[in-house]
Amino acid sequence: MHKLIKNVEQAATEEDKREFYEVIRDIAEHPVVLQMKEFPHHCDTSCYDHCLHVAYYNYCICKSLHLDARSAARAGMLHDLFLYDWRTHARETGEHFHAMTHPRAALLNAEKYFELNDLEREIILKHMWPVTLPIPTNPEVLVIAYTDKYCGFVEIARAYSEKCKSWMPHTSS
Ligand SMILES: [Fe+2]
Ligand SMILES: [Fe+2]
Repeated sequence: MHKLIKNVEQAATEEDKREFYEVIRDIAEHPVVLQMKEFPHHCDTSCYDHCLHVAYYNYCICKSLHLDARSAARAGMLHDLFLYDWRTHARETGEHFHAMTHPRAALLNAEKYFELNDLEREIILKHMWPVTLPIPTNPEVLVIAYTDKYCGFVEIARAYSEKCKSWMPHTSS
């Protein structure tokens, strides 16, 4: 799957990127969705940027596999629309199961502002699979289950590699 991500990334043309953005434009530029820029998600990656990364890889992979790339991209952009800082949420609300509960919170918010189809609802609700149990019934859900974890890992690893660089002694002459 990692190879698939690298392959679709290398194969993506400027036209593909434009096409992707047109598919998600109304969501990506909506004032409620823009609020995600205020919430840090993985280290210095905001919730908005994380959703954009996931949406992009969803789109590229689903397009290359002849799946519903449009729904995968749109649901990807909405999958973490829970609109709070998950790092302070438990302390402030006493709700300790963010990992389990946020897909439903994101779906409720998404349904308030956008018209969703059944597949988009399922992608948002089950994106944490297998951490959350409902079994995916569409392959696009398996794609986001992977892209979400992949993007999370890369976003965290990138932040730590930047930190590690600053801890290393400067050896160049
Ligand atoms: Fe999530
Ligand atoms: Fe996510």
